[in-house]
Amino acid sequence: MAPHAIVTGGAGFIGSHVVDALLADGYAVTAVDDLSSGDAARVADAAELVALDIVDLQALEAVVRKVKPRAIFHLAAQASVVVSVQDPGRDCDVNVKGTLNVVEASGRVGAPVVFTSTGGALYGDEAPMPTGEDRIPAPLSPYGASKWAGEAYVKTWSLSSGLPHAVCRLGNVYGPRQSPHGEAGVVAIFAHHLYTGRAPKLYGHGTPTRDYVYVGDVVSALLAASGRSGTYNVATGVETDVSTVWRVLSEAAGKQIEPQLADLRPGELTHSCLDVSLAERELGWRAQTTISEGLARTYAALVEEFEGR
Ligand SMILES: NC(=O)c1ccc[n+]([C@@H]2O[C@H](COP(=O)([O-])OP(=O)(O)OC[C@H]3O[C@@H](n4cnc5c(N)ncnc54)[C@H](O)[C@@H]3O)[C@@H](O)[C@H]2O)c1
Repeated sequence: MAPHAIVTGGAGFIGSHVVDALLADGYAVTAVDDLSSGDAARVADAAELVALDIVDLQALEAVVRKVKPRAIFHLAAQASVVVSVQDPGRDCDVNVKGTLNVVEASGRVGAPVVFTSTGGALYGDEAPMPTGEDRIPAPLSPYGASKWAGEAYVKTWSLSSGLPHAVCRLGNVYGPRQSPHGEAGVVAIFAHHLYTGRAPKLYGHGTPTRDYVYVGDVVSALLAASGRSGTYNVATGVETDVSTVWRVLSEAAGKQIEPQLADLRPGELTHSCLDVSLAERELGWRAQTTISEGLARTYAALVEEFEGR
């Protein structure tokens, strides 16, 4: 019988790619998602989709006990910095209580958890770059705070249960299936503006930098981290400013549109770049996709999605 895995947030951007990779590796997969920002159409037909809110421990435990997964990938989250500033209570419910519920439920069946935290929103603006995992977090937003609190539960539950739960602190992830309709996900937003011929806003006047990492690389890191008990930055170690992202995407689209420049929004960082040497040493993982390859591939895939193909 095929081993089973659960992916929370499996109808989301990154989670749906994790579902695909697990299916390709021969797992039977259950995606758990409340569809608040996810889309059932992203979930592969071969996977089971269970619609539930991870804040509801009883409902979550019932699925975990039924499925008896060998591994859990916990990606369900309130994942927007701006929404976390507007509604920090709900952000805390989903990202802290929801994460506690996932590690609680995992203990009932002895399944290790991989938790997706954030490298961008966690370390704050004062951190040396590239930032290593040993830097004490100083988040600027409720989202960063809730992810840090979620990490604490994952690590504490790992110590007390002896289960090897891993924390992966992701850089700025981009790729196919990212929604252009939120306030985050600058690559998808820019791609949609290029596709529809509209000028985007470049917050921070185009100068903020991020560590952009292709979703396929993130998925392989998450799979490599399953069954490990460390905390790993998952990014590229390369800093790219937002003007460059716009320029490279414009080249991929073959279009020239003058962007609008705007001030940075509350809770946003000016710079972010992660030290990825620990993941290289301990997981044998390294991002394979350069930003220009990844952006070109993403633009082509997103255009197909915009056209409903
Ligand atoms: N995209 C990035 O650049 C990035 C960077 C750092 C960390 N992360 C983390 O990676 C994970 C996936 O992010 P994403 O970009 O795919 O976001 P996403 O919004 O596409 O996916 C999150 C999924 O979780 C689901 N969800 C939200 N609240 C839920 C709840 N209470 N119960 C069940 N399901 C719920 C949503 O419906 C959605 O499908 C998140 O934990 C996010 O914090 C993402």
